[in-house]
Amino acid sequence: MCGIIGYIGPRKASAIIVDGLKRLEYRGYDSAGIATCYEGKIFLRKGAGKIDELLRRLKFTELPGNIGIGHTRWATHGVPNDINAHPHLDCTGKIAVVHNGIIENFQEIKEELVKKGHVFKSDTDTEVIAHLIEENLRIVKNFEDAFRMTLLRLRGSYALVVLFADDPERLYVARKDSPLIIGIGKGESFIASDIPAFLAYTRKAVFLDDGEYGIVSKDGFSIRDIITDSIKVKHVHEIKWTLEMAEKGGYEHFMLKEIFEQPRAIKDAVYGNIEIIDGVAERILNAEDVIIVGMGTSYHAALVGKYLIQRFGKIPIIVEEASEFRYEYENLLDKNSLVIAITQSGETADTVAAMKLAKKAGARVIGIVNVVGSLATRIAETTLYTHAGPEIGVAATKTYTAQLTVLTLLGISLGKLQGVDIGEVEKTIPRLPDLVDSVLKYNGKIRELAKRLEDKRDYFYIGRGISYPTALEGALKIKEIAYVHAEGLSAGELKHGPLALIEEGVPVVAIAPTGKTFEKMLSNIEEARARGGLIISLGDDIRLQDVSNVFLRMPKVPEEISPIVYIVPLQLLAYHLSVLKGHNPDRPRNLAKSVTVE
Ligand code: F6R
Repeated sequence: MCGIIGYIGPRKASAIIVDGLKRLEYRGYDSAGIATCYEGKIFLRKGAGKIDELLRRLKFTELPGNIGIGHTRWATHGVPNDINAHPHLDCTGKIAVVHNGIIENFQEIKEELVKKGHVFKSDTDTEVIAHLIEENLRIVKNFEDAFRMTLLRLRGSYALVVLFADDPERLYVARKDSPLIIGIGKGESFIASDIPAFLAYTRKAVFLDDGEYGIVSKDGFSIRDIITDSIKVKHVHEIKWTLEMAEKGGYEHFMLKEIFEQPRAIKDAVYGNIEIIDGVAERILNAEDVIIVGMGTSYHAALVGKYLIQRFGKIPIIVEEASEFRYEYENLLDKNSLVIAITQSGETADTVAAMKLAKKAGARVIGIVNVVGSLATRIAETTLYTHAGPEIGVAATKTYTAQLTVLTLLGISLGKLQGVDIGEVEKTIPRLPDLVDSVLKYNGKIRELAKRLEDKRDYFYIGRGISYPTALEGALKIKEIAYVHAEGLSAGELKHGPLALIEEGVPVVAIAPTGKTFEKMLSNIEEARARGGLIISLGDDIRLQDVSNVFLRMPKVPEEISPIVYIVPLQLLAYHLSVLKGHNPDRPRNLAKSVTVE
C-alpha cells in the first residue's frame, strides 16, 4: 500500500530510487514519482501509470543530485492521476514529501492552511504535510523542530520521508502504523518501506518503530520519540535474505517463482521453528480461550489452524477476521486469553489493531509472521517466523504454505502434549518438500486445464473439514488474479442454496483427500455432476476418476497435511488463468501487497 524509497550518498540518487521503486511496485502501482535535490533546488517528476511506462515518459533518471525520495502509489485519497502522484511540494517548492498511510485530520489542517494563503494542487491528504511543515518552519526556523511539530499535529497513519532543498545533506523520516526501514551502507543511506528496495546495496537495516522520527545522513542516523523527543537506541539488523530471493530468477512472474519456491519455504519454516514451537503449544493449553485472527489468505491459514489445534490439542478454537475481531472483542478478553495473529507482512492494519487490542486487554499475543522486524513482531510476545523469504507477488502463495507448516508443527506439538496419535503426520513432515515438488510437476497439465476453462465466468470450490479453507483459498486466488467470480464453500452447504447456481459446464473444483468426510464429498460431487457441473477433483482415491471430468491425482498424505499439498495446483490454476487472460498476476488491479489502511 504505497512504497517509499529515499537515498543519500555519493551515487546518482534518481537511478537508485528508480531501482528501488521497481522493487516496491508490488506495494502500489497506479502512479509514481521522484524528487531529487541539486544545487539547492528540488527537481520533481511524477505521473499516473506503471513504473516502466513512466520511466519512458518522464525519464526519471535524468534528475540530478545525490539525495532524493521516490514513491509508488496505491490511491486512498484522490484518484490516481499525475497531480495526485507523490512526491508533493509546499508552496515554495523547497519541501518535498512522500507518504504512505492516511492522514485522518487532513481536511481540518487543509482548511486552516488555505485560510493562511496556502494553495493546494492535489486532492491528497499528503500535500497538507508539506504545507504544514512550511508553515511551522516559519515559526521555529529549524528543520527538525518544524518536522516534529508537524508530526505532533498529524492523526492517522504514516511512513514519511521529507526532503528540504535548504538542508540537502539529510532526509527526515517518521513512522506511525506504516513500515519504514533505514538501510545502512558505507557512506550512503537508504530509506524504504520494504527491505528488497535496498537489498542490492546493503544488508544492514534499522527498523523504525511506531511513534519514532529520525534524521538520516549519508554517514548515519539519529532516531527520537515523536512525543517525548527522547533519543532512541536502535539495533542494526543483519538481513539474511539474498537479492536473488527477491528477484524473478528466470521465472516469468514472481508469483510463479514463489509457487515453485514452496518446497524450500516449507523446509525453512520447519527448521526455523522446531525449537520454540513446544513453548507456544504449552501456552495454548494453559489459556482459557484461544482466538486466531488474520485477513485474506492469512485468515484461511487461521481456519486450517483451527482444525489442526482442535483435533490435536483437543480444545475449541475461535477464528475471526481481524477486521471483525477488533470491533467486537474489546470486552471479551483478559489475561487468560491467547490471541494468535497470522500475518505475512506483519503490517496489515486490521491484524495489527487486533493484536494491540488483545495486548491492551492483558491477553497473550503470539504472531505468525514472515517479515522480520515488522510491526506485528514487536507487538507479539513471541513470534513464530514463517521463514518463506520475501514474497513480491501480491497474491500470497509460499507464505501461505509456510504459515500452514508452522500451524501443523503446532498441531503436532499439541498432539504430543495431549497424548493424541500424531505419528503419521509427524512422519510426513520431512517428506513435505518432496510431496509439494511432486505436485508442482502438474504445472503443464494445469496450464492445459486453464486453457479449457479460459471462458468460464463462475467457479465453485468445495471442501469439507480441514479442506474447506483450501476451497476458500483456491477461490480467493482466482478471484484476485484472474478476475473471475469464484466461491469457496463447505461442501455440506451446497444443497442449502448454491446448488441452484450449478448448471451445464459450471466448473466445480472439489478438494477431496481421503479422510473423515471423503464419502460425503463423493455424494456432494455427484450432486453437482447431476446438475451438469464440470467436475475437477483433487484427491488420492481413484473412485474420484469416475465422478469427475478432470481428476488430479494427489499423493496420499494424512488429511491434516493435505491443505499444504492441495493448495499448490489451485495456485497454479489461478496463475495460468490470469496469464491466459492477459493479466499480470504479480500486480492484480485494485490490490496491494500489504494493506496498511482499514
Ligand atoms: C491474498 C492475499 C491477501 C493477504 C491479506 C493479509 O492472496 O495476499 O488476502 O493474505 O491481505 O495480509 P498479511 O498476511 O500480510 O496480513
